[in-house]
Amino acid sequence: MSVFEASHIYSLPRVYVNTCPGADTSLVLRLKGSEEKPRCEGKPDRPKSFRKGSLTVTPVLHHSSASGKRCTYFGAQVNGVDWSQAVSEDVVAQLKELQDEYAVLIFRKTGLDNSRHVAFSRQLGQDLEINPFFYGRENDRIGDPFLWDVSNINRDGSIVQPDSRRWHHSLGNALWHTDSSYHQERSKYSLLLSHGTPVRGGSWTHFADTRQAYQDLPQHVKDQLEDLVVEHDLWHSRRLGSPTTFKEPLPHERAAKPPAYHRLVQQAPGQGRKTLYIAAHAKLIVGWSYEDSQELIWRLIEWCTQPKYVFSMEWLDGGDMVWWDNRQSMHRANPYTTSMTARDVRRATIIDDGPSAWGVTEEEIAAAKHKAEQLGLLRWDSPLV
Ligand SMILES: [Fe+2]
Repeated sequence: MSVFEASHIYSLPRVYVNTCPGADTSLVLRLKGSEEKPRCEGKPDRPKSFRKGSLTVTPVLHHSSASGKRCTYFGAQVNGVDWSQAVSEDVVAQLKELQDEYAVLIFRKTGLDNSRHVAFSRQLGQDLEINPFFYGRENDRIGDPFLWDVSNINRDGSIVQPDSRRWHHSLGNALWHTDSSYHQERSKYSLLLSHGTPVRGGSWTHFADTRQAYQDLPQHVKDQLEDLVVEHDLWHSRRLGSPTTFKEPLPHERAAKPPAYHRLVQQAPGQGRKTLYIAAHAKLIVGWSYEDSQELIWRLIEWCTQPKYVFSMEWLDGGDMVWWDNRQSMHRANPYTTSMTARDVRRATIIDDGPSAWGVTEEEIAAAKHKAEQLGLLRWDSPLV
């Protein structure tokens, strides 16, 4: 028996406005994070900016660790990479260390072009995702199968219009998500690079720290989440973003993107902190009804996206790039607007090579279903925010 009313799930705030936190001159990064005072109870263990080899690192958010004795961090701007040539393996190793800890790295005015964007991405993992909407160089605005065109620009240079399928497809990207969680062989990193001039009126991408959010959950909730398995489905998030246009995917769309299954609670890379692997793509908790699944999934998404876990990055110049780890963060874009000027952003996506890259097996899914049915619904009575 459900402890939730199914109708309630539709009242959750799944559609977000075009959020522009506003320019604050005290935030030299043009990043907006929690405005609370630092929550770290111990002595701050890092200055505002610090050097790491040839790099200068400026963290964005910090919180108390589980012990409360040191800080944990989320997001950092990194200066000092020489993008004019191939990035040295020493610097790549330093950047990977930073990535494992901060989960989101921001670089300004890189000057990268398509080929160097792809070349740097290849230094971060064995394989890149191939853009499934690539139908040959002559039919693609960008012309590289390893780059996803996540701009609002059509092949002829015009701006995507509200009545187009592409516009409606983009609405799902304005929901909190992780890239490619709907793939059984998931991806680990996304590298989004801007080209051209900034969008008039500003453009922001928002990031949420799923590690810290997990850490702060009540223990009895953590215990009940531990063994849950989640079905992720791209067409579920498209339908949430645009219920009419994506009520049902087209047959070839469904065939191209079947559902995938991943553990809800996972171990993040690097420091090995636990994290929630969750997204708007998350459709079902294996063993639960759709309504009960959505209730928990969206309660968790709301939990992870409280302001204290979120910062927003403004795209300031062509060449700005953000590199995030989908295994330990969520993100969302601002939705398109009819007054929006060209926003030319292109994404390389690097396939996961870690221990959870392929999600769960059929046997693990069956076991999780059995256990979820035995345990029943999670009763989480604590106030969410
Ligand atoms: Fe995304």
